[in-house]
Amino acid sequence: MGEARTAARTAIVTGGAGGIGRAIGAALGAQGVRVALADLDGDAAEAAAAALRATGAEAIGVALDVTDGAAVAAGAGVVRERLGGVDIVVNNAGWDELRPFVETGEAFWRRVVDVNYLGALRVTGELLPGMLAQGWGRVVSTGSDAARVGSSLESVYAGAKAGVIGFTKSLAREIATSGVTANVVCPGPTDTPLLAGMTGEGERGAKVVAALTRAVPMKRLGQPADVAAAVAFFASEEAGFVTGQTLSVSGGLTMA
Ligand SMILES: NC(=O)c1ccc[n+]([C@@H]2O[C@H](COP(=O)([O-])OP(=O)(O)OC[C@H]3O[C@@H](n4cnc5c(N)ncnc54)[C@H](O)[C@@H]3O)[C@@H](O)[C@H]2O)c1
Repeated sequence: MGEARTAARTAIVTGGAGGIGRAIGAALGAQGVRVALADLDGDAAEAAAAALRATGAEAIGVALDVTDGAAVAAGAGVVRERLGGVDIVVNNAGWDELRPFVETGEAFWRRVVDVNYLGALRVTGELLPGMLAQGWGRVVSTGSDAARVGSSLESVYAGAKAGVIGFTKSLAREIATSGVTANVVCPGPTDTPLLAGMTGEGERGAKVVAALTRAVPMKRLGQPADVAAAVAFFASEEAGFVTGQTLSVSGGLTMA
């Protein structure tokens, strides 16, 4: 592709209204990337996009449920119409609740896999053909250190995120000569509404957060911007020779 195209890429960030997704939008916007923040909560996505526009970035909010193929296609259509073809896909939407495996069942398993694994497949499946056709693209997915080292009370989620990593490696091989790369960023415990919701409030929540923090060699939780910087790298022009990689952003929690 020519110079003009490299000057202004377009990205879609799923879960873009949330803690990490919003920060990814900000990091990409700061690099001059046009950003569509796509989220189950369309109002929150639009509010996050408005905040991003106030910083000078070009951004829109889009309502999109990654568990619904028709909604993914419709949301992608809105992005194409308003921002042009999508060059960068960030599969960041995710959901979990801390539960012992033996207390979970079919409905919970399906929900976790639907959002965290199949959601990434749906969005990538919708937008990859356009990137392959133009010979340039970036797929960056938010995994989790839970998938790399295991995490009590997150077995189903860890399995779904491990699926994202396996999918990414295989896809990266399959499309290696196409100009499209695929990589995964794995946050450790990161200070977001998802983490707060999982740990709970009050004394019990504070204890869980303290235990998570103790487990991190750097002795702090991750911040959304820590994760966003790694996503922005994989999404950049300069990362064109990097594919199939899994990068932990977790204060040293995972070293592999
Ligand atoms: N916070 C952590 O400690 C942590 C650790 C490891 C991995 N992650 C992963 O990072 C990603 C971002 O998480 P976060 O902590 O910012 O969570 P968050 O809950 O703050 O944000 C997630 C966003 O995803 C959206 N979302 C949920 N289901 C969706 C769906 N079906 N379709 C579209 N959007 C949907 C939510 O509305 C929310 O805005 C997730 O994939 C999560 O699994 C988070």
